Amino acid sequence: MKDIVAIYPGSFDPVTNGHLDLIHRGSKLFDKLIVSIAQNLDKSESLFSMEERKEMLVAMTCHMDNVSVDTFDGLLVSYCIRKNANAVLRGIRAISDYEFELQMALMNRKMEPRVETIFMMPAEQYSYLSSRIVREIAKLGGPLKGLVPEMVEERVRERVTHKHISAVGKHLL
Ligand code: PNS
Repeated sequence: MKDIVAIYPGSFDPVTNGHLDLIHRGSKLFDKLIVSIAQNLDKSESLFSMEERKEMLVAMTCHMDNVSVDTFDGLLVSYCIRKNANAVLRGIRAISDYEFELQMALMNRKMEPRVETIFMMPAEQYSYLSSRIVREIAKLGGPLKGLVPEMVEERVRERVTHKHISAVGKHLL
């Protein structure tokens, strides 16, 4: 049987425990798993730079031998071919994810039939978790325990506080 090299693409702004759960599951299934951070087209909403997101993902996955972290821009399927990947891993949390994920998977398959999309479900406790919700809770001073790793929580708190201070500073000028 041929080796399965899978790409797990996403924004990872920041990486959550739900992402890590999926990475862990994927690392057991695939020969190689490349977690790939997509260049954000809309940078205004992002909390962390690509380098910072990569740094956090590397720190959280370096103990998994067949997992690596990378970044990409442009079309996902073109990146898959460049990386000799034959699969894309995506997580489905709830039925609400399905419509968008189906559209993306079918469009990717139309553009590049050599790449299959594989959906996996994270553990139930992460079914309502997303990076967007983590950013929002952090901005509003809510608890992040259990949603992101401790190291990520510290970085998020630091960043949100810093952004808040800069915003107040600008307002006072
Ligand atoms: O974490 P996200 O934001 O759900 O990830 C979405 C992502 C990055 C996987 C998706 O937007 C993507 O694949 N972007 C790359 C550009 C691309 O190939 N677009 C066509 C999709 S059909």
